[in-house]
Amino acid sequence: MFVMSAMSSMFFLFSLLSLFFTGTEAAAVSAIPTLSYKFTLAALNTSLPNTNDTGVPLVLGQNGATDGMTFEVTSTYASYPYNDYPYISLNGGSLKAYRSSGISITNATTVQSGGELEWATSSFYSATPGTSYSAVTPPSGKYAVLAVFGNVDMWSLCPSRAFRGQNNVIYNVSTVASPYASYIPSDCCKVTLNIVPL
Ligand SMILES: *[C@@H]1O[C@H](CO)[C@@H](O)[C@H](O)[C@H]1NC(C)=O
Ligand SMILES: *[C@@H]1O[C@H](CO)[C@@H](O)[C@H](O)[C@H]1NC(C)=O
Ligand SMILES: *[C@@H]1O[C@H](CO)[C@@H](O)[C@H](O)[C@H]1NC(C)=O
Ligand SMILES: *[C@@H]1O[C@H](CO)[C@@H](O)[C@H](O)[C@H]1NC(C)=O
Repeated sequence: MFVMSAMSSMFFLFSLLSLFFTGTEAAAVSAIPTLSYKFTLAALNTSLPNTNDTGVPLVLGQNGATDGMTFEVTSTYASYPYNDYPYISLNGGSLKAYRSSGISITNATTVQSGGELEWATSSFYSATPGTSYSAVTPPSGKYAVLAVFGNVDMWSLCPSRAFRGQNNVIYNVSTVASPYASYIPSDCCKVTLNIVPL
């Protein structure tokens, strides 16, 4: 019995490792800066079992405003149940989010280590769009995944400590160090961001 369970644990570990290495190799293979199709994003747990291979749906969640511009972060639909921007495009390394009317005045900005996957919306002003996004297609797996500078494995989902804070996508959470920060790394779970075609 002991041998059996040790064997199956080892097999499990081996399966996890081979998944991990397959993913890592894929990152080196192809990071595509433009996709011909529109899509949504979904977060897949990389360390814990998922209920399906698509992951939890993500939307653009509110993150404040200035005169003439609003800011959004990428949140789970479960924590921000409004889908004001039902689809996204990737063109030349930049992400755009669209209203259901088909209009886009929303770009993802440049992602910072320890920061959210953020967006800026305005019909008057321009926030410099980020240009380092790409889609990486793993050899196995149903979907391409979102990368920054070709990195597919730097994303986490973190609950914000702010009042009514959303569960948000953070890049390179190891940079979040301050005790006053909005996120606590130990509260986060590592995810990959599936690109789900519409
Ligand atoms: C990851 O798994 C944990 C534990 O099952 C769960 O609480 C969390 O919501 C999951 N997150 C995602 C993005 O699937
Ligand atoms: C996948 O599971 C998540 C919960 O973990 C759920 O929110 C989502 O709707 C499911 N997606 C599909 C395509 O079944
Ligand atoms: C979004 O990017 C486009 C270029 O693709 C630019 O013309 C527009 O001003 C940008 N909008 C915002 C809000 O940054
Ligand atoms: C992630 O953050 C750590 C700590 O700030 C930094 O050393 C590292 O270069 C960052 N990695 C990426 C890929 O941005």
